[in-house]
Amino acid sequence: MNTAICPDFTLEAVYESMASLPVFPKIVHRALKVLDDPNKNITDVGKIIKLDHGLVANILKLTNSAMFGLSQQVSDLDTALALLGQNKIREVLIASAAMPYLARDLNGYEMSPEDLCYHSIGCAMISEVVSKRLGFANSAELFTAAILHDIGKIVLDIYVGPRLMEVLDRSRREDSDFSVAEWEVIGTDHAIAGSSILQQWEFPRDICRAVRAHHDPDLYIQDRLSAMLALCNILSVQLGLGVGADGFRYRLSDQLLYVLDCDEKDYFKCLEDAVKALEDARDVIQLIFG
Ligand SMILES: [Fe+2]
Ligand SMILES: [Fe+2]
Repeated sequence: MNTAICPDFTLEAVYESMASLPVFPKIVHRALKVLDDPNKNITDVGKIIKLDHGLVANILKLTNSAMFGLSQQVSDLDTALALLGQNKIREVLIASAAMPYLARDLNGYEMSPEDLCYHSIGCAMISEVVSKRLGFANSAELFTAAILHDIGKIVLDIYVGPRLMEVLDRSRREDSDFSVAEWEVIGTDHAIAGSSILQQWEFPRDICRAVRAHHDPDLYIQDRLSAMLALCNILSVQLGLGVGADGFRYRLSDQLLYVLDCDEKDYFKCLEDAVKALEDARDVIQLIFG
């Protein structure tokens, strides 16, 4: 029997914490549905977004950041949507709605509000360049998964905090990834928690699966979206992008590169692309946090 696993009541408490999280704005899902409806247009999407003033403000802030690389500054939503186009609207919607969840102190993981935002935005921006480099067509889904991949940390933080040293000791002693030790000590890990949160928020199954798999080689080799997310995350980690106490306790697996048909040369090209994306992500964070 593994005596290190917390008693059941702790897991129940974790699930209660998840259930008490504010729901992901329904308006975003509605806007995404309209975006995918061939009988609707961008003006219809704008009408829905304008129902939430906070969301409009966040969208304008991000639209004017390095994240979307527009050649001009915009101050109204209609112009922003017209310039962004369908795929980028999807991304700005998800990123804008995710920011309030990501910008928080995670003392348990030793992460500041900037850290999780930087890591998540950086990972999403890396996903764009890596999708191009490796010819991955489903870049919009990957972007969403990348922004939200560590969302489970916002719930697990209070449980990891008191046992962080135990998790780190175990990870070092067993030479295992942080998430493995996290699961052994806490009884769950942030990838499992994150996937449950996204299911609760009614995100597509493929995205929930990729988030669940992002630290688990047995799972992420099973589909390309999951493998791509795992790669983008490990690139972010290797570049030290907004990492916390768990930062450098993850490894790149050979299997990952094999299933993505990515040789060493491709990998170093991805790393070079990621360095540039990281600089742009830093500009976005400066814009958000001032
Ligand atoms: Fe993670
Ligand atoms: Fe991560």
